[in-house]
Amino acid sequence: MSPSTIMPFGHQVSAQLTTKALGYPLYYQKQVSSTNHLALEAVQNGAEHGTVFIADDQTEGYGRRGRTWISDAGLNLTFSIIIDKPCEDQNIGLLPLATCLGVADAIEAAVCPHALQFKWPNDILLNDQKISGILLQVMSPPTDQIILGIGVNVNQTDFPKDLESLATSILLSTGQQMDRASLMASVLLHLEKTLDLLRHSPWMIRQLYTEKLVWIGQNCTIDGMNHPVEGILTGIDDSGALTIHTTSGPQIIYAGNLSLRVADH
Ligand code: BTN
Repeated sequence: MSPSTIMPFGHQVSAQLTTKALGYPLYYQKQVSSTNHLALEAVQNGAEHGTVFIADDQTEGYGRRGRTWISDAGLNLTFSIIIDKPCEDQNIGLLPLATCLGVADAIEAAVCPHALQFKWPNDILLNDQKISGILLQVMSPPTDQIILGIGVNVNQTDFPKDLESLATSILLSTGQQMDRASLMASVLLHLEKTLDLLRHSPWMIRQLYTEKLVWIGQNCTIDGMNHPVEGILTGIDDSGALTIHTTSGPQIIYAGNLSLRVADH
């Protein structure tokens, strides 16, 4: 009998952990409302840096802008990590980018040579479809701890009709069925490395993220502010903000929802 048939999922992950701090402690439950809910509660109760909550199923999983996070039970990774403030305040905008890099490194290590791309700020794409989403949350009033809520589509093959063209999974895109526990341990290891990089060489985060930034040089729209901004996407600045060249000159965008603008004919 293989270990995966006899060990609970949380133990399988813990048995493969090679991190210094992430994953200690690690709490696994079959079904929860949202792992971010558990993490928020834990922060209030003084949880330690590195604490992880994983669930096979979330009944109220959510993403950015209050969207529902759809994930079939037992097929994907849905988890939240509590971290202490990882860097100087002026670099905090690079945190979502560092998180994307860590998750992408783990996926690429598992299914190399499939190249991933980033849709600024928090989405990871494979073949132009979303394979992972990241939601950063802080307590209000803010504490020095941050919650990284991460969903990775791993072995799911059916998505609801409205997501079919937008979402994918590792299995759907590469044909490779993944061992979720080893991927989870690897995500934590790679994430720990990119968080170290964020602390010691933040400029590297900008450089590595930009190499995978989708739609550079293309006409894009950013929604979610007072009015949509349209222009040619030029890159990321030192703070992790998006830079875009509009008809009235260069602009820096700190938050919003990026989409590719379909050419008008
Ligand atoms: C997004 O793409 O909008 C972010 C999605 C984040 C989903 C993860 S799954 C684990 C954690 N728990 C949640 O309820 N959300 C995050």
